[in-house]
Amino acid sequence: MESAEIRRRWLSFFEERGHTVVPSASLIADDPTLLLVPAGMVPFKPYFLGEVKPPYARATSVQKCVRTPDIEEVGRTTRHGTFFQMCGNFSFGDYFKEGAIRYAWDLLTSSVADGGYGLEPSKLWITVYEQDDEAERIWRDVIGVPAERIQRLGMGPNYWSMGVPGPCGPCSEINYDRGPEFGEEGGPAVNDERYVEIWNLVFMQYERGAGGGKEDFPILGELPSKNIDTGLGLERLAMILQGVHNMYETDTLRVVMDKATELTGVRYGAAGESDVSLRVVADHLRTSVMLIGDGVTPGNEGRGYVLRRIMRRAIRNMRLLGATEPVVGDLVDTVLKTMGQQYPELLTDRKRIETVALAEEAAFLKTLRAGTNILDTAVSETRSAGSDRLSGEKAFLLHDTWGFPIDLTLEMAAEQGLSVDEDGFRRLMREQRERAKADAQAKKTGHADLSAYREVADTAGGTEFTGYVHTDGEATVVGLLRNGVTSPAAQEGDEVEIVLDRTPFYAEGGGQLADTGRIRLDSGAVVEVRDVQQPVAGVTVHKGVVQVGEVTVGAPAFCSIDVSRRRAIARAHSATHLTHQALRDALGPTAAQAGSENSPGRFRFDFGSPAAVPGSVLADVEQQINEVLGRELDVHAEVMSMDEARKQGAIAEFGEKYGERVRVVTIGDFSKELCGGTHVHNTAQLGLVKLLGESSIGSGVRRVEALVGTDAYRFLAKEHTVVAQLTDLVKGRPEELPEKISGMLAKLKDAEKEIERFRAEKVLQAAGGLAADARDVHGVALVAARVPDGTGADDLRKLVLDVRGRIPGDRASVVALFSVVKDRPVTVIATNEAARERGLKAGELVRAAAKALGGGGGGKPDVAQGGGQDADAVDEALAAVERLVAASA
Ligand code: ALA
Repeated sequence: MESAEIRRRWLSFFEERGHTVVPSASLIADDPTLLLVPAGMVPFKPYFLGEVKPPYARATSVQKCVRTPDIEEVGRTTRHGTFFQMCGNFSFGDYFKEGAIRYAWDLLTSSVADGGYGLEPSKLWITVYEQDDEAERIWRDVIGVPAERIQRLGMGPNYWSMGVPGPCGPCSEINYDRGPEFGEEGGPAVNDERYVEIWNLVFMQYERGAGGGKEDFPILGELPSKNIDTGLGLERLAMILQGVHNMYETDTLRVVMDKATELTGVRYGAAGESDVSLRVVADHLRTSVMLIGDGVTPGNEGRGYVLRRIMRRAIRNMRLLGATEPVVGDLVDTVLKTMGQQYPELLTDRKRIETVALAEEAAFLKTLRAGTNILDTAVSETRSAGSDRLSGEKAFLLHDTWGFPIDLTLEMAAEQGLSVDEDGFRRLMREQRERAKADAQAKKTGHADLSAYREVADTAGGTEFTGYVHTDGEATVVGLLRNGVTSPAAQEGDEVEIVLDRTPFYAEGGGQLADTGRIRLDSGAVVEVRDVQQPVAGVTVHKGVVQVGEVTVGAPAFCSIDVSRRRAIARAHSATHLTHQALRDALGPTAAQAGSENSPGRFRFDFGSPAAVPGSVLADVEQQINEVLGRELDVHAEVMSMDEARKQGAIAEFGEKYGERVRVVTIGDFSKELCGGTHVHNTAQLGLVKLLGESSIGSGVRRVEALVGTDAYRFLAKEHTVVAQLTDLVKGRPEELPEKISGMLAKLKDAEKEIERFRAEKVLQAAGGLAADARDVHGVALVAARVPDGTGADDLRKLVLDVRGRIPGDRASVVALFSVVKDRPVTVIATNEAARERGLKAGELVRAAAKALGGGGGGKPDVAQGGGQDADAVDEALAAVERLVAASA
């Protein structure tokens, strides 16, 4: 059964049983605790935690996932992949253990003809959490699985959480016995290669706190309801249903391996390191395409680093297989062909994906070349220090600065006969990781323990946002935090975080900066609000300082936001939508939003584009935006279903979380976009939009920065003044400025050249006289003279060579000229071949002269240069040269 069919059956099985089919969310998790989505349940986390009311009681999805902690295992075991698709069914307070177990059993064991996967029941083994009697009873008594095929295991394998604070619960895994060729018998408790886990049923019931890993954490309490979260690895089931040995040989990965064998000529199935490399290439290339597809670009931090590491491992493995040419283009093409069937957006985005992937390959190949030089230097330094072991520091540096994987360093050092201090390298890597972890920890505590906010949300409920309509209004203080912990009151001078039941303050989000303003209490207390955030969904936290009086929970308050700041931000935000649409009109749908920031009077907008946007296109875009302003288009927002929004053609930023209801902002007939931000009412309010320019912020992503309204006006007014000053200076009209100035620059350059020519001529004019004055010293024509002060070393050199050229070559000749520049003596000495045959080497003559001058110098036997400190010693230096010439006879 093909992967696409496995997926189809999954979704329709659960859809027929009352589950809402939810499309896979982006791999970029909308969750600050996660880099990438590692499990199917991630998009549903707020529902499990009760932060957001689920719009359905049952859901099903096939979610794209990436996990990289086991990256070293990829290709070595039969079932580790960095990218995989997790098929899941979810219940939010609806069915629980028995329901989930029944569904799983039915789907796995019903015949293929009946829409199931047709697995042989006797091959299925079950594990349950050691204290979960209920689950065991259901499997045994309700389903009828023989007791000997049900095993109890501890928390490690059978208690599931995301590894971080959040929902958790005991789980039960369904495992498939692949038969004796995969190892000893005894069930999943003893052998997880043979009894491979295919489906995990999590009975999500508790909330866990911070702690270590999978087993060591406190249970904070029960979730608002008993839920089900399950995950079946699509690739693993495909491996079983397609009767292949490992997941890399399943349909969607096999074709990538085949492409890699075609490109390298290496056969798959030789059962050695080359097989491992081929599997790594297939897995990693696919993961790379999926990550780039969701908007990740290679970089040195976070997700970008995950992608870079994976891509570079793939390219490196292709080279180990013997590829010498770029390979990424062909491999990406193959991945797109197979994955594009299930994820058509990959095909519409093909150009961007290819551009990003190819750019990273080019960068890595360059790194390999540059890094090879660095490695060579490190090797020779190591050798000259008398060692045959490259230090851990050097290996780490190669890794850290040049992205050299350690296996590459090992191999390339070995080629030169050196070993590498791998332990030292790993220690430094560990230290770096620990530093990174400590940083992350520090950051996390910065926006504090979310449980404090959740506590407020639980007791006080969420905050209603009134700011789409109002800029001020009454509210009640429902929660108060000081230093991240809830507190009943705060005094004058305190920094506070205030939660209100309703607020006109916009919390930073969707690229729009927060409102600022004041909260006044009936008691007379005043809080200056400097920042507004939503640390957990629905709870708006106003951060600020108590200026006067005391703030207490329960107190009535009156909020007013800084209206001019809000208006300036709204202008920027509406301008961003216009820019987005205008860029799409000009460049096509690849110009999709990759990020934005709307601040008072200015904005930046990041978008996908494989190349720089030409100035003329940008000028057209700017003109189009400003024309739209003049059309006085109305701006309005409407809440509708996601389906309706799609139908109306609204642009949705990828990575956005799709709730059932979305807010759509429409600007006349020009733009329609999903957005939660605040906007102007009519485009005329923007006044003016000035794009300041465009630049690259990563491969395939460009950024425009722009000013709006009075900020744009001020910018243009300033430029106007500068232009006026310039037209005054050059006495021309503004449009003549470029031509006039470039004409002036050209003239200036010509004049400089002319001056240089005159100066050189003047210096060389002396050459004839100097050559004529050559004296014969024991058969050597010697010109030894002091030329006018201020003749610099370069001119001196020209002159010396010119003089030497004027003395017939059959005579031995030495030309030694001296000058004083800024009180320092310089000399250039040249000898001809006949002189050198007599042992007169310029380098030695200069050394003797420079010694007399109190300095040093050197050069080749034919020309050399030197200098010193003592300008009064020039005569002495001349004499020293003459003495050596005389001595050569
Ligand atoms: N969330 C569960 C898992 O990832 C199903 O295994």
